Amino acid sequence: MNLLQDLQERLRLALAGLVSETATYEAMVKPAPPRFGDYQFTCAMALGKALGRKPRDVATELVQQLDVGDALETPEIAGPGFINLRFRDDWLARTLQAIAADARLGISEVSSSQTQTYVIDYSSPNVAKPMHVGHLRSTIIGNSLVRLLRFLGHRVISDNHLGDWGTQFGMLIYGYKHFRDDEALQADPVREMVRLYLLVRNKIKEEGGEDEDAASSPTAEACRRETAKLHAGDPENVALWKMMMPWCRAELDRIYRRLDVTFDETLGESFYQPMLADVVNDLRAKGIAEPSQGAIIVPFGEDQPPALIQKSDGAFTYMTTDLATIRYRVEKFKPDAILYVVGSPQALHFQYLFAIARRWGYDRVKLEHVPFGSVLGPDRRPFRTREGGTIELESLLQEAVDRARKIVDSNSPHLSESERREVAEVVGIGAVKYADLSQNRTSDYVFSWDKMLAMDGNTATYMQYAYARIRSVFRKGSVDTDGLRRDAPLPILKTPQERALALALLRLEETLVAAAAEYKPHVVTNYLWELANAYSGFYQNCPVLKAETDSLRRSRLLLCDLTARTLKTGLDLLGIRTVEQM
Ligand code: ARG
Repeated sequence: MNLLQDLQERLRLALAGLVSETATYEAMVKPAPPRFGDYQFTCAMALGKALGRKPRDVATELVQQLDVGDALETPEIAGPGFINLRFRDDWLARTLQAIAADARLGISEVSSSQTQTYVIDYSSPNVAKPMHVGHLRSTIIGNSLVRLLRFLGHRVISDNHLGDWGTQFGMLIYGYKHFRDDEALQADPVREMVRLYLLVRNKIKEEGGEDEDAASSPTAEACRRETAKLHAGDPENVALWKMMMPWCRAELDRIYRRLDVTFDETLGESFYQPMLADVVNDLRAKGIAEPSQGAIIVPFGEDQPPALIQKSDGAFTYMTTDLATIRYRVEKFKPDAILYVVGSPQALHFQYLFAIARRWGYDRVKLEHVPFGSVLGPDRRPFRTREGGTIELESLLQEAVDRARKIVDSNSPHLSESERREVAEVVGIGAVKYADLSQNRTSDYVFSWDKMLAMDGNTATYMQYAYARIRSVFRKGSVDTDGLRRDAPLPILKTPQERALALALLRLEETLVAAAAEYKPHVVTNYLWELANAYSGFYQNCPVLKAETDSLRRSRLLLCDLTARTLKTGLDLLGIRTVEQM
C-alpha cells in the first residue's frame, strides 16, 4: 500500500479542472506535522500564484473536487491554504488487516511495463591491495541498493568490477620473485601475499616513493617492468598472475561471506583487456579519439583537459577499461541504467566516462555515478585501518563482533554459548552496516563504535532488539502466529498510539519507493527509526498480552507482528540480519 501515491492520484484528479500540467503540484504532498493530520497538500499556494487567485480559494475548490472515497476524513484547510488530510481509522484498520496475510506486506512490485534493468557496479576493490573502508562503504551501500531495487520488482545485475590488472600485480610478482617464503606460502598463501605486498610497498617508501608509480624508487621501477611484462603477455608473469588471483579472490570472498554479500558477476578489469585495442580503434574510426604526442586522447575542447585512453608507451587506462565495460554491459545485459557506487573523489572520472560513452553512441542507457562521502576517524580525518589491508578490514569487522559479544553477554545471559556467538555476529556486522547506511550517503561520517552499538537510538542494535522483543512476546503468549496472519482480526485503533503505529506501518512502501528513486538507503533507516519510536509509544501505553479483552489482545498482537515483520523487511533490504531471540 502506497499512501503517498494514493493521495497523489486523488490530487491529480482534483487538479484536472484547474490546470493542465499537474505533475509539479502532485509532488506537493507531504507527511503533515502530526497535530494537523497524516498528510498535507501544499500546492494551493503555488497554484494560487500561477492562476492569480487566492490560495485559500484554490484550496477550497480543490477540496470540493477531491474524491475522498472511503479512505479520507473531510479535509481541512489551514493557514494560507494548506490542505490537511487524515485517513479514516476504519480504512487504516481494513488496509492493515488486508496486508497481514501477504508475505510482501502489501508492497507491490512494479508492473512489467515499468520494470527496469539495472547493472550495479559496486564494491570493486583492487585485489592484492589493501581493501579500504571506502570499498567497504561501496559494498554496504551497493548491496542495499541491489536488494531494494530487486524487491521493488526490477531486474538487477550486480557486478563486482575488480581492479585485478593494475600495477599492484607488478609489486606482487616482483615480491614473489625476490622475497617469497615458500613455507609461508604453502601454509597460508593469502597471508604471504599480503606480507609481500606490504614488504614491497615499504621498500618503495624507504626509497622515497609514495606508491608504485614513484619515479625515484628503483624498486618501483622494477615493479613497473613486471607489470608491463604481465600486460604484454609474458608467459611467466601471466602464469604467476593466474596463480595469485584465486588467492586474492579467496581473501575477498571471506569478507563478502561475512558481510552476506554476493554478486551476479565478478568481471574484473582483466576481463576487458582483450577488448581494449578495439575500443581505441573504434573511437578513432568514429572521430571521437585522436593521437596527441604519441598517445591517444579524447579531446574536451579548449578549457578542459582531454581524456587519455592510450598512453604513449601503448598502455591502456582505467578510462579505456571502463569504456569497454560499458560496451560489454550494454550488449550483454541491455540495461536501462548502470549505477556506479564509487566514492565522490572519482566524480570527474565518471563525468568524462559518461560524456565519451554518449558521444560513442551509448546515449540511451542511463549512466549514473552514485557517490558517497568518506568515513572519518574520531579526529575527523579520513578513517584508515592500519597498514595491512583486507586482514585489517576483517579485524575491523571482528572488533565489531567482539564488542557486540560483550553486550550480548551482559544482556542475554539466558542464551547458550552458540546462540550468543550467532547473535554477536548478527549484531556486530549489522551495527557496522547500519552506521554507514543511516548517513546520507553523500556526506562524510564519523566512525564511532559506541554510537553504532548503542542500544537506544537509531542503530541496528536497537532495531534488532525491538524485533527480538516482539518475537519473545509471541513466545511468551504462545501465540499462533500463522493463524493470526491468515485469519487477521480488524485492528482496533482507539488510542492515539495504536493509530500512529498503524499509520507508520503503512508508510513502508512509499519509503522504499523514495529510497530507490534517490538511491538512498538512509531514507529506509529514517523510516525504521520512526516506526520503532511509534512502536515504543504503543508498547508503553497499550498492554498486549494483558489487554482487557481478547479482541483487543488479538488486535495488538497483530500490530506487534506487523511491526516485527516491517522491521525485518526493512533491515533485510539493508542487508542486515535479525535473530528471533536476543
Ligand atoms: N577499483 C576502483 C577503485 O578502487 C573502483 C572501480 C569502480 N568501478 C568502475 N567501473 N570504475 O578505485
